[in-house]
Amino acid sequence: MPSTETEDLFAPLRAAVGATRRTRPIGRIAEVAATGVRVTGLSRHALLGDDLVYTDTQGTEQRAEVARVEHESLWATPFARADGLRIGLPLNPAGPPAIAPSGAWIGRIVDPFGRPLDGRPLPHGPSRLLHHPAPSAADRRAMGDRLRTGYAVLDTMLPLVRGQRMGLFAGSGVGKSTLLGELARSMEADVCVLALVGERGREVADFARRVLGPEGMARTVVVAATSDQPANVRRRCAFTALAVAEHFRDQGKHALFLCDSVTRLAEAHREVAVAAGEATSMRGHPASLTPLLAGLSERTGPGAGTQGDITAVFSVLVAGSDMDEPVADVMRGQLDGHIVLSRDIAEAGRYPSVDVLRSVSRCLPDAASRNENELIGELRALLSLHDRNELMVSSGLYERGSNPELDRCLTLIGKVNDVFTLDGLPRIADGFRLLAGILGRPYTGPD
Ligand SMILES: Nc1ncnc2c1ncn2[C@@H]1O[C@H](COP(=O)(O)OP(=O)(O)OP(=O)(O)O)[C@@H](O)[C@H]1O
Ligand SMILES: [Mg+2]
Repeated sequence: MPSTETEDLFAPLRAAVGATRRTRPIGRIAEVAATGVRVTGLSRHALLGDDLVYTDTQGTEQRAEVARVEHESLWATPFARADGLRIGLPLNPAGPPAIAPSGAWIGRIVDPFGRPLDGRPLPHGPSRLLHHPAPSAADRRAMGDRLRTGYAVLDTMLPLVRGQRMGLFAGSGVGKSTLLGELARSMEADVCVLALVGERGREVADFARRVLGPEGMARTVVVAATSDQPANVRRRCAFTALAVAEHFRDQGKHALFLCDSVTRLAEAHREVAVAAGEATSMRGHPASLTPLLAGLSERTGPGAGTQGDITAVFSVLVAGSDMDEPVADVMRGQLDGHIVLSRDIAEAGRYPSVDVLRSVSRCLPDAASRNENELIGELRALLSLHDRNELMVSSGLYERGSNPELDRCLTLIGKVNDVFTLDGLPRIADGFRLLAGILGRPYTGPD
């Protein structure tokens, strides 16, 4: 008869053995399609968004993502080509997706699974889930101080503050990626995380080398999924990059999160959602696009408590300047402002090709002093007057002298636009001082 004391000694061990699952759930492929597989046996063991692991017919370990769960089976989209799969192949649930970022990731290019793309070993930190809630709305700080970007047009007319979330809207080839790369290099932040979603393969290394350069890479983690990779890999890219930015934010740092582009993320999401049986409703996009993009942008922004902040810039491709297409529309509703790039300005060789009149930064008027807001107001009025009369002037229908206000505008506009192309300005005040000089107004500084 064992004593009570001996029983107590073995109690924790018995409890641990009792809690051990004696069976490991195994799923089996029941149907293979080009876009995914139907798996039986895991409906009660895997949740939507979880990973499954399997060994493909070539003996390589692969992963798939659960895209729909039904009563008797689930639908999963493999992260590799589905053509090497056969009926009956076993899969195991691997829980919600996670990565293990660390400070050693800075200066490196990784894939959406946190694996190095440069062939060198990559040290890992503590594991963190890819999907989790944003800091609680009640505890989050308000947006913080104005940040220097080095670009005169942004620092003056469209300021960015710590924790702000901006959209960068433009047609193809107008300079979105180049501007994001330059922000990674020059904007005030402790660390920068850049998500390259669906870039052409050759562009990833080229982007790191040419646009970011050694100076930009020295403080940047690049997470890249190229256009030839399956849709769910491209979709995961944005969330992996976000989890990396959150890792640094949770250490109290100020992270700059750049996502290029949200349009390609939305296209990847549509492919996955349609393959899993979701109907498209919003001009070809599934209804789940809105919560996906809202979740992404909501997780950036100011932190709470001891957390730092995530300042974010999301690029959005707007075909034919259609700002009402679904991705642009959803993003504009979520963000604290938008920078619109203009093809006409780019074609005139003026970079960054920011269309100031169509762009808005919602940190104004609070982020600028009274004097600065007056200068911004006067410059907007000048740009607007020029915009309304440009056609008449360029077609030779306007005769100088007939409208003194327009005459002044035509004398000043070239100089103002020249200041808007300046970059590398060491202080925010520098751009304001130049613009105030052109307008013949005093500049009394930031406060
Ligand atoms: N700041 C700049 N200075 C000089 N040229 C620029 C600048 N920004 C963009 N360009 C020119 O515009 C081209 C396209 O730029 P970029 O790739 O940044 O555009 P994009 O909007 O990201 O294009 P896509 O829609 O294809 O992704 C560049 O290859 C370059 O020739
Ligand atoms: Mg681009």
